[in-house]
Amino acid sequence: MVKVLVIGGAGYIGSHVVKDLLEKGHQVVVFDNFSTGQEINLFNNAELIKGDILDKTALEMAMSQNIDAVIHMAAKKAVGESMINPGLYADNNITGSINILNAMVQFGVKHIVFSSSAAVYGMPQYLPVDEKHQRNPINFYGYTKMVIEDLLDWYSKLKNINYIALRYFNAVGYAADKSIKGKEKNPQNLLPIIIETATGSRESFQIFGKDYQTADGTCERDYIHVSDLADAHEKSILRLMKDDSSYCLNLGSGRTVSVQQMTDACEKVIGKKLKYQYAPRRFGDPDKLVSQADLAYQILGWKAKYTNIEDIIQTTWNMEL
Ligand code: UFG
Repeated sequence: MVKVLVIGGAGYIGSHVVKDLLEKGHQVVVFDNFSTGQEINLFNNAELIKGDILDKTALEMAMSQNIDAVIHMAAKKAVGESMINPGLYADNNITGSINILNAMVQFGVKHIVFSSSAAVYGMPQYLPVDEKHQRNPINFYGYTKMVIEDLLDWYSKLKNINYIALRYFNAVGYAADKSIKGKEKNPQNLLPIIIETATGSRESFQIFGKDYQTADGTCERDYIHVSDLADAHEKSILRLMKDDSSYCLNLGSGRTVSVQQMTDACEKVIGKKLKYQYAPRRFGDPDKLVSQADLAYQILGWKAKYTNIEDIIQTTWNMEL
């Protein structure tokens, strides 16, 4: 049993991580400022500290609770917004992470799992993308993740902290048992936007580009179920506790689904035709992005259990039923 401080534990991915840790018998303290996290995502058997990572005193209070390890998932994550308001992303993501690391040093907490992103790679130079691929982010959000990875590396060398940075590909789905109740508000990503069209809360959606160098001309992505992501965090904590090394690991399924395939699969799962239009390309989208996730298997014994996109869509659609 490990006592884990989950920073951002009321958010979409964070709440799935907390659920997984509790089910595996760990003790959890959730730290969240509820800017995007939701009260409805909390579990009775996890302790709660309402606080902001820009508030050093609140972080020190959290870190003083005999914490064995930290999972840091508190970040602003809207790519478009990060290009318009970089200061907000620098403060929240970078300064906030520095505060966390300094509080860990102050209270002797030695292990941290960090939510990084495939956005650190930028435009892929080869596929599938492995962890040795150069990091060259093309948006400020991805840049903040890269900077935090570098900070983790320095703190590991200088302050004896060990870390695992998990580079998520496209996170999707909800817990199959519907125990996570809070749907993401104002979603920016493909699957939740399609679901909003299906429920009627938006009239239609757009497919951005159908002239890409892919089989059907629409972009291909590597979708990974959020419960699989959660499992990797628990495995990362256990790994950090028994070994002094640090790692950056891709978390993906290793398979791609195109925007058109996602759309068709949603129509099949939901059982009705959806309204959409083909629109021009969105800036900064690579044709194809897919992970090589063998290192996560080697280091953590982890691989994605959800392999079928219709099963993944079903867990999202279930939230509406
Ligand atoms: N798309 C549409 N219509 C929409 C929304 C998205 O066609 O209304 C397309 C996009 O153009 C893209 C694909 O669907 O081709 C997936 O787009 P998302 O916005 O859902 O996801 P991204 O691949 O752009 O980015 C996601 C996360 C990032 C993360 C990245 C890492 O949002 O935070 O995966 O792979 F960095």
